[in-house]
Order: sequence, then structure tokens, then C-alpha cells
Amino acid sequence: MARMKRIGVLTSGGDASGMNAAIRSVVRTAIHAGSEVFGVRHGYRGLVSGDFIPLGVRDVSGVIHRGGTILGTTRCPEFQFPTTRAGAIEQLVAQGIEGLVVIGGNGSQTGAWELSRSGFPVVGVASTIDNDLVGTDITIGVDTALAVAVEAIDRIRVTATSHERAFLVEVMGRQCGYLALMAGIAGGAEVVVVPEAETDPEEVARELRDCYDRGKGHAIVVVAEGSNFNATRLAQYFREHEERLGFELRVTVLGHSQRGGTPSPFDRLLGTRLGVAAVDGLLAGRHGVLAGWINGNVAMTPLGEVVGRTRGIDLELLKMVRILAR
Ligand code: F6P
Repeated sequence: MARMKRIGVLTSGGDASGMNAAIRSVVRTAIHAGSEVFGVRHGYRGLVSGDFIPLGVRDVSGVIHRGGTILGTTRCPEFQFPTTRAGAIEQLVAQGIEGLVVIGGNGSQTGAWELSRSGFPVVGVASTIDNDLVGTDITIGVDTALAVAVEAIDRIRVTATSHERAFLVEVMGRQCGYLALMAGIAGGAEVVVVPEAETDPEEVARELRDCYDRGKGHAIVVVAEGSNFNATRLAQYFREHEERLGFELRVTVLGHSQRGGTPSPFDRLLGTRLGVAAVDGLLAGRHGVLAGWINGNVAMTPLGEVVGRTRGIDLELLKMVRILAR
């Protein structure tokens, strides 16, 4: 195994619970292998400005149970420009950093791929609450975000039942319906609306009416934010056609609360395993890859196969939701 004098680590894009476990595992694994570690603050923005801090084993004490990221994160659209990336590589070289771990989702891994194509050794770690990354069955942060969403749905169901109301609950996920689908199934939703399937509001209304006709005392519709009819648009449609559809809907948009949960054991374990794998990969000379989790094991996938693609969902499960909502 080669040695690297210094390894850098950054978190980028939307924060995800479990990122701190990944940082901790990168730091301690690299130090164990004889490297020094520098944390890059605020994602690619800190890389460009050279905002580095040395990280020792004690600096990552007491972080495994904390949500968010101790390094800070940003979205850095300028990183798409070759000159910006060249400046970042200059900063890394000036600091004596020989390899970089990038913890983040789609946009972040696109930056990692571009850095790697310029010849700088980079390994990505799959982390986003959206679970839309190719090259992994699940990403860091999903399990916790799902737990937050399901807890919210459980609470909403209590008031929905008391008032015999229908509720729209919007969850995050960008253009991916994974969170909505899983939260809908685990929360026992009557209807799930995802971007991967065209939404017909009339069909949603039919399904809701059918729920009441079957004697249900409430109805929960879980809506993915990226759907062609998100919760706001769906609610507006129902308002505009209230007399005909005969429904009054309440709307809850869970938004960023889904990113703030205490990392679940699964996310801590996943962050830890992928952090170790990323350092091992760097030291073994496996660069330009994403450390992900496939079939219960760590898997390294070339970043070129990951970026620019979105992981799909199992649409068969939507049918299952309907059957189970009986
Ligand atoms: O990618 C994670 C995510 O939380 C998405 O689900 C959501 O659409 C987006 O980030 C929100 O971004 P921001 O935190 O920049 O508002």
C-alpha cells in the first residue's frame, strides 16, 4: 500500500446525518496508516480559498452522534469552471495534500470526478438524503431523514384521524422519489406521489374519496418535492376544484427538518465503513471512484459511471402502496 503524506477531506452539498461519522473514520483511518489529515471547511468553497484545518484523532472526538457536518458545507456552482478547479488543485498542492476524500451527493461527486480527471487523486463517499446516486444502494443520511419523515407522518396521522381530514405531507428528495416512497410505505400512507410517475390530481382525488368510502377516518398523501404536482400545486388544484372534489386538504412541508436528525445507527455505520473504504482506496491507488454500499458490502464504482445519472426507484412498490392502503 502506498503512503500519502497528507490527505484532505471535505463535505459538500446538502448536509446529511452520518457525515460526521464518515469524517471521523477518514481521519482516524488515515492517521493510523501514517498520513496527516486536513479538513477543508465549507466544501469546495474552502478548497478554492485554501480554508484548511489540521485534524487529529482528538479533533473528531464526540462527533459520531452529531447531525450535520463539523467541517461545514456549501453549494459551490463556480466549481464547474476549469479555472476554479485549477485554483483548488493549486491550494491542495501548496498544502502538501496528495489525496482528497469528497463526502457528498450528485453535484459534489461531479466536482470530484472533474478533479480526478485533472489528475488529482480523489475518492468520493456517497452521502445525500435523496438516495439518488448511482453506485450505491443507499447513501449516508437517508436512514435518518426517513426516520424523521416517518415520525412526522405518525404525528400528522393522529390529528388527521381526530378530524377525519386528508393531509398532504411533502418530503425532500430533489428529482428522486425514494424518500417519499419509503416514507409513504413505512408511514402507512394512502397515496404516494413521486417524480418518476406522472401525477393526475383527479386520480389522487378519486383515491382519497375511495378511502373515505371504504370507511377510513383519515388519508395521508406523501408527496415528493420534485413531483410535477408537489404539495403546494396539488393543494392549489384541490382548492380550485373544491366544490366538485369535495375535499379540504391540510399541507405539511417537512423541508429541512429532514436533514437535522440525530444520525441513526445505520447512518453512523455506513459513514464509518465508507470513510474507511475511501482512505483504503486512496492508499491503494484506486482513484476517481465512489465508495458506496451494494448488496451489503462496500463497492467502488468509477465516478464516470456515477455522475450525470439519477438512481431510479422501484415503481412496482407504488402498486403495493395502493394494495396495502385498503
Ligand atoms: O440534496 C439534498 C436536499 O435536501 C434536497 O432534498 C433538496 O431539494 C435540497 O437539498 C435543498 O437544498 P438547500 O439546502 O440548498 O435548500
